[in-house]
Amino acid sequence: MITNTELEYKGDLYPTALISFEHDQDTISFITKNGVRLMIQVLRDNMLRLRYATSGIFEDDFSYAVDKDHPHGFNQLKVEENETHVIITTEKFICKVARDDIRVGMYDLNGKPILEDEQGFHWEESFEFGGNFVKMSKTSRDQENFFGLGDKPTNFNLKGKRLSMWNTDQYAYGKDTNELYKAVPFYMGLHNNMSYGIFFDNTFKTHFDFCHERRNVTSFWADGGEMNYYFIYGPEMNDVLTTYTDLTGKPELPPMWALGFHQCKWSYYPESKVKEITSKFRELNFPCDAIYLDIDYMDGFRCFTWNKEYFPDPKRMVSELEEDGFKTVAIIDPGIKIDLSYDIFKEALEKNYFCRRADGPYMQGKVWPGECYFPDFTNPEVREWWSGLYRELIGDIGVKGVWNDMNEPAVMEVPGKTFPLDVRHDYDGHRCSHRKAHNIYGMQMARATYEGVKKYNFPKRPFIITRANYSGGQRYTSTWTGDNIATWEHLWLANVQIQRLCLSGMSFAGSDIGGFAEQPSGELYTRWIQLGVFHPFCRVHSSGDHGEQEPWFFGEEVLDITRKYVELRYQLLPYLYTAFYQYVQEGMPILKPLVYFDQQDVQTHYRSDEFIFGNQILVCPVQEPNVQGRRMYIPRGKWYNFWNDKLITGGKEMYVDAPLETIPIFIKEGAVIPKYPVQQYVDQLDIEELTLDVYYKLGKENSDLYEDAHDGYEYRQNIYSLRTFKLTGKEDEIILQQHKSGKYSAPYSTLKLKFHGLPFDIKRVFFENEEVPLEKLQFNAEEKTMIVDKEFGELHLVG
Ligand code: GLC
Repeated sequence: MITNTELEYKGDLYPTALISFEHDQDTISFITKNGVRLMIQVLRDNMLRLRYATSGIFEDDFSYAVDKDHPHGFNQLKVEENETHVIITTEKFICKVARDDIRVGMYDLNGKPILEDEQGFHWEESFEFGGNFVKMSKTSRDQENFFGLGDKPTNFNLKGKRLSMWNTDQYAYGKDTNELYKAVPFYMGLHNNMSYGIFFDNTFKTHFDFCHERRNVTSFWADGGEMNYYFIYGPEMNDVLTTYTDLTGKPELPPMWALGFHQCKWSYYPESKVKEITSKFRELNFPCDAIYLDIDYMDGFRCFTWNKEYFPDPKRMVSELEEDGFKTVAIIDPGIKIDLSYDIFKEALEKNYFCRRADGPYMQGKVWPGECYFPDFTNPEVREWWSGLYRELIGDIGVKGVWNDMNEPAVMEVPGKTFPLDVRHDYDGHRCSHRKAHNIYGMQMARATYEGVKKYNFPKRPFIITRANYSGGQRYTSTWTGDNIATWEHLWLANVQIQRLCLSGMSFAGSDIGGFAEQPSGELYTRWIQLGVFHPFCRVHSSGDHGEQEPWFFGEEVLDITRKYVELRYQLLPYLYTAFYQYVQEGMPILKPLVYFDQQDVQTHYRSDEFIFGNQILVCPVQEPNVQGRRMYIPRGKWYNFWNDKLITGGKEMYVDAPLETIPIFIKEGAVIPKYPVQQYVDQLDIEELTLDVYYKLGKENSDLYEDAHDGYEYRQNIYSLRTFKLTGKEDEIILQQHKSGKYSAPYSTLKLKFHGLPFDIKRVFFENEEVPLEKLQFNAEEKTMIVDKEFGELHLVG
């Protein structure tokens, strides 16, 4: 029995027997004797939406999470009934609703259970607030495992956990801290090689129990609102996640510079300090694309102002940094300082844009500037106003990205560290209290920021990063995992959290590399960079009060090793950019946890150290001090050790060398990995040649390469290029074919092919089916390289 512990428990209520049901187009509505209504909407062949109304009246149908343009429609829908059930069949699965008590079960087309209600829907009336605590319980199968839920800093596999969603500023959180910065009420279950997803779209505080309270029961419930959830069937996790990401939306492509290395600290000031840092990067040839300004750039922490003593001419500074290849990213918090001589405060006050308490006073709370009021970002008019505030910062001064912080929302020195629950919100015209709007506040702030940065940076692409978010927030912004600590445990956590965010539709994520609080040793810093360069977002950040965290601070050895890894990230930019494209286009996660990569292999279900970066690079960070190597699991298939090209067969655990300058990296056999030359920042060089590392495989493998102008929107007019390299390996032959779509032509004209693992010496080459002398392709027998026209169609190498 799930009880609401904060209030006196009055007992749960349950639906009774079905009295009738109706089928209208995509929706089947049920009504019980005690007036409970269940509405099942068929959205896709593999997705249903289920809503329950305890007194027969549904709430307004409104969601911040669901993308209004999400694809829907199905191929097949059959509704039948028998004595015991109403049976809904789509092309992918079967849903049965019991006449006795409207409990719901989902089955595959062979009748195998995927997910069945245990008690199913039930509720507890909320006497204090009105409405209900809405609850759902499901039976869990043996060997069922659970994944998802956003940024939770706990074991990757969620079995046995009980967790809740309430966005919280958790400075220096730890392993198993429950509530963190984000609310992503979406998880995936996996059993018997069948995966499904549950998206509980409810912005109140939500709770999830994965066989914690009872061994064979999972449940989810909320402190208010509607039992409104989506059931998504796989059977592959990939189907579940891409359907979820379709539903809650995909971001636009970030500018490529946002995938470079970023340097941050609380805070770099004054201007001379900022320049000292950026110059040092260039002097030491350490690639870097962005420098961040934390709160001290402002005048007394007033958002959208500058401290003129530290930054007398921000526009000049930003443009000088830009000339040196640095984009400037500036922080903006939600708290607006109470100060009648501050324009923005005055305007928001006059226009009634600040949040108010239930009885009318403004919501007042302390943040960095001291006492503040807070804009109600759930009001569309406020969002419009907020987006307009970026005119000067972005449009005039030329700042390229915005970092939204403290938007859980965080309030200092008060119980709960946030707004009291009685605060009122507009919620886009569905007025409500903070109980309902809390988890959505940060997302709506980031949304308004996105609109503003996009508007004033156009035709360039916007870059936003936020700390708080809710499902669907990936449409507007990237994210980071907040105030972590410079400890080995936090390096482990960063690895788990970023993989989890990737499985929660929020792939554009990273951690504060090196740790925000406290100071890392050179060794920890090195290991963290080695992991961080494989995270979709790659930024060093620290609180600054424990020492420096620039790469040169830890001495020559650390500088050299970390530089090598950041250079590797820059070389892999076309590969990473392609993974971003697949995320943006298809909702595929940029990092693929092993369970996602190969769910059939049960060995992967409890693994979390190793992950696949993009589609074909296996990475395993070192997460302990003083080691020369580590054990890791190599997924099934054959993999080349990146460092020595040794081919190994996976499906087993093995020991891999990893002295300080190395972390285990493996390339899937058959992969074709595109590489740029090392640059100090994106677009520093006109790329004259693209390298393709071709890893031989006996058999076939496809690899993709997406390219465009790296910024701007021309790619939406078909000005992009998507190429597929099809590799076919035989005993003494390798065939490489290229298929291209899109109208973009990359500036370089040739490709340098570098072959790895060829089991034969190349004797003859056929180019577009005609034999050509090896010299014509500048074949280098020792390096195993050759140069071909970038538009080549087919190449045969014969031994
Ligand atoms: C919060 C942020 C941190 C930032 C600091 C000052 O703690 O999480 O990243 O540096 O505020 O703005």
